Amino acid sequence: MKLLLLFFLIAFCIGGLYQLYEWLTGDKRKTKLDADFEKPSSVLSSKHTGFAVGNKSFSVTQSFNHMICLGNSGSGKTSKVLINSLLRMRGDCVFIINDPTGQLIATAPALEQAGHEVKIVNPSDIACSQYFNPFKSDHSSIQKVVTTIVNGTMPVSKDPFFNISCIKLITLLGRILLYSPPEYQNFCTVLRMLNQLNFDPTPIDRMVVATRDHNLITEYKGVAAFDSKLMTNITATGLAALSIFSNPDVARLTSHNSMNFDDFKKNNVALFFTCKIADAKFFSILSSIFYQQLWEHLMEKLPAKDDQKPVWFIMEEASLLTLNTLSQVISQVRKFNVGLILVYQDYNQLIDTYGSATARTIFNNCGIKCYMPGQSLAVSEELSKLGGVFEFEDETGTRRTRNLILPNEARETSDVILAVANRPLIKIDPPPFYMIPSMMRLIDLPPFQPKPTKIFDTPPLIQFNED
Ligand SMILES: Nc1ncnc2c1ncn2[C@@H]1O[C@H](COP(=O)(O)OP(=O)(O)OP(=O)(O)O)[C@@H](O)[C@H]1O
Ligand SMILES: [Mg+2]
Repeated sequence: MKLLLLFFLIAFCIGGLYQLYEWLTGDKRKTKLDADFEKPSSVLSSKHTGFAVGNKSFSVTQSFNHMICLGNSGSGKTSKVLINSLLRMRGDCVFIINDPTGQLIATAPALEQAGHEVKIVNPSDIACSQYFNPFKSDHSSIQKVVTTIVNGTMPVSKDPFFNISCIKLITLLGRILLYSPPEYQNFCTVLRMLNQLNFDPTPIDRMVVATRDHNLITEYKGVAAFDSKLMTNITATGLAALSIFSNPDVARLTSHNSMNFDDFKKNNVALFFTCKIADAKFFSILSSIFYQQLWEHLMEKLPAKDDQKPVWFIMEEASLLTLNTLSQVISQVRKFNVGLILVYQDYNQLIDTYGSATARTIFNNCGIKCYMPGQSLAVSEELSKLGGVFEFEDETGTRRTRNLILPNEARETSDVILAVANRPLIKIDPPPFYMIPSMMRLIDLPPFQPKPTKIFDTPPLIQFNED
């Protein structure tokens, strides 16, 4: 009897040890389907100060992994995420705010009260706008800006020949301009040079010869040897791409600099890029250039600890922007204390702007995915797959399986669904800012009065005949 007891005791111990081994090594295969929503409190807290949804925020570390917010018009992107984030994050940080609809400027008084220096770039109201000249004095910077302008304004056809040739030609004109006095170095002058090239290239020929730059002269000769019909088509594409600089206000705004990019590392600036709603698409090329140049500046060298303030880019209506470097920037910029919120109405807008492969890269690099109510079927199906499957017993006692959320349920829900990193989905019903009394007190502060900025002169026009 004792022997039998000893035998059972040893068997029990071996079984226990094996289970412990399985638990420690994780070898035990999971046999239960138990998908479930995660509690919002696992990632959102009223103590955190990162991106907000309703009246709770993600941690700052989580927010450096970026957020993409998808939802139809009226689904609450601005009123449940963007305004809430600006109001909850205000303080010791920098905001770069794309505000083409002018809704986010309502947060400016609260940001000012929290110590932010509010600046505005507004091509529709130049009297109160900051100035910024995207023309930089080196070959590769000129080429990058020209690429953004051409790709952002000219539809990319199946044959990209005209866009590529046009980028080459405008970049070449920019490089020729580098030999002229600094007051002429802007895209308004590049446009004048292109016009001149179109009807009488002799003054441009003289400018090129005067540079004594053999590489430049050889490249220019190569362009001048183009068949005249081909040249007319390329210059026509270029003139269309640069047409924004024929607007007198844009010409002025982009011929001077009133901002120093270093301020965006050290001071609590809140910069709003805004304009009249009707002009939003037209002017979006300027904001696209600005954001890309600022990213490049912020990413020049890794900041030492506490050396650089967090810089938050709040990209309302991001579908208006053409950000050629976004897919590379979004995977790296976190290391430079920079976080982005990208707002789109639909995932297809990302595909339309960047193509499906780049759109996926951008999407995957957003650690927080915020799905507002009313998603498309494709997104609803993806959400259903992400949610996983669980088992249950029906009323007859039969075991069945079911998706945590079916595509039709994902499409019809009035809740916001969050997919944060590799965690289970989260379902919440966040309040909009106008239902949160503490936020309404900030929104109801006296409206922000933009101060008139230093007025710069109309840019001097380069005189070709005197050359
Ligand atoms: N201050 C406010 N008071 C009451 N209702 C508001 C207020 N601001 C917005 N809303 C309502 O909240 C809803 C969501 O609006 P919101 O602007 O957040 O949508 P959105 O997703 O940003 O849309 P869009 O893509 O058009 O910008 C709308 O029905 C709108 O009328
Ligand atoms: Mg909105």
